[in-house]
Amino acid sequence: MVILGIETSCDETAISIIETEGNFPDFTIKVLANEVLSQIQLHRQYGGVFPMLAKREHAKNLVPVFIQALRNANLYKETVNLTASTIDASIDQKREPELWEQFGRILQLEKPPIDRIAVTKGPGLEPTLWTGINFARGLSSTWEIPVVPINHMEGHIFASLLGKEAQISNSYKLKAISFPAISLLVSGGHTELVKIRDWFQYELLGSTRDDAAGEAFDKVARILGLPYPGGPEISRLAHAWRASGKTGTGIKFPRPMLKSDDYDFSYSGLKTSVLYLVKKLPELTPDIKGEIAARFEEAVVDSLVGKTKTAVDELGAQTLLVGGGVAANRYLRNNLEIFAKSRGIDLYISEIDHSTDNALMIALSGASRAARFEDEADSSQFAAAGNLKLV
Ligand code: KG4
Ligand code: ZN
Repeated sequence: MVILGIETSCDETAISIIETEGNFPDFTIKVLANEVLSQIQLHRQYGGVFPMLAKREHAKNLVPVFIQALRNANLYKETVNLTASTIDASIDQKREPELWEQFGRILQLEKPPIDRIAVTKGPGLEPTLWTGINFARGLSSTWEIPVVPINHMEGHIFASLLGKEAQISNSYKLKAISFPAISLLVSGGHTELVKIRDWFQYELLGSTRDDAAGEAFDKVARILGLPYPGGPEISRLAHAWRASGKTGTGIKFPRPMLKSDDYDFSYSGLKTSVLYLVKKLPELTPDIKGEIAARFEEAVVDSLVGKTKTAVDELGAQTLLVGGGVAANRYLRNNLEIFAKSRGIDLYISEIDHSTDNALMIALSGASRAARFEDEADSSQFAAAGNLKLV
């Protein structure tokens, strides 16, 4: 089965094409294309993502990125069969003017051998989600290909099962997992601990009560005068500061919610502690910045790892899956590795390239769903859902 994945939930325009063989979950996966066009440079000047600006960029870029993906997958073939009036039938010009303009190029293509289109339905920014969904619908009605709606967070879970082998033109097997598994999902919009009873069966154990972990990294970065997105910047500063062997000035931050009797998180108070500290400082020297970055990162990681440990132990989990942009954080990865070793459980953390948003994870989740729920009706009429939940 050949699956096209489309991801536009935030500021990455991503398209992937994969081919699966065999029965889920024992199937072989071949990555035919995996394109990610990041809008980070554009949003950086504003210090964050502007939904309507992001939407316009997705609309401008989806068709070219898709065509590039087809070329990479050797599925690009031109034809002259379709007429321009098909565009109006496929894309609503009023709602998606930029996408409509681009869509003519699709009509010059021969239908590629794609069996399913998997597209992110949510959670994320609703205007940008809609552009991805409208594009999926346009392709679906032009070429009569069924659409599978995908939960972005489920995508991050599947990203952790991709492994290093998931490279273009490589064939590989999905990681085998023993249930129950625990998944720690840490991104710019979400911080969640999920129990996975079996494939596609989720139970939300806890989530953040205010800011997400990635959001806290981004906000603290801004306080320290670092560019968006803040996670990689803080992580780099923290690492360099620790490596320098400096002992620092004794800065300490609280471990939010670590002792609370649930699986919830909270990062807004931690961010405020950083803000108060910085306001009191006579000068934000590079050394102090490094120390704050390190101590802040340690506070976030301690709280994430602490709650994850409790969940794994209390629920007797055999497998820990970690995904989302913050999973790219090396300090978090190291600490989770130490923990998993101490318990003898399997730990799958998404590769750094697959931690931040991509369409490979959406295609994989779509392929798995299509294989498991083969009889599900085509549901191309679903709406974007900015607050979509896993359960
Ligand atoms: O999953 P993602 O790409 O987008 C969302 O679905 O939100 O996550 C983006 C978030 C941003 O907040 C970014 O600062 C954070 O992931 N991030 C990191 C690192 N790399 C990205 N946070 C901490 N350390 C990193 N190395
Ligand atoms: Zn994400």
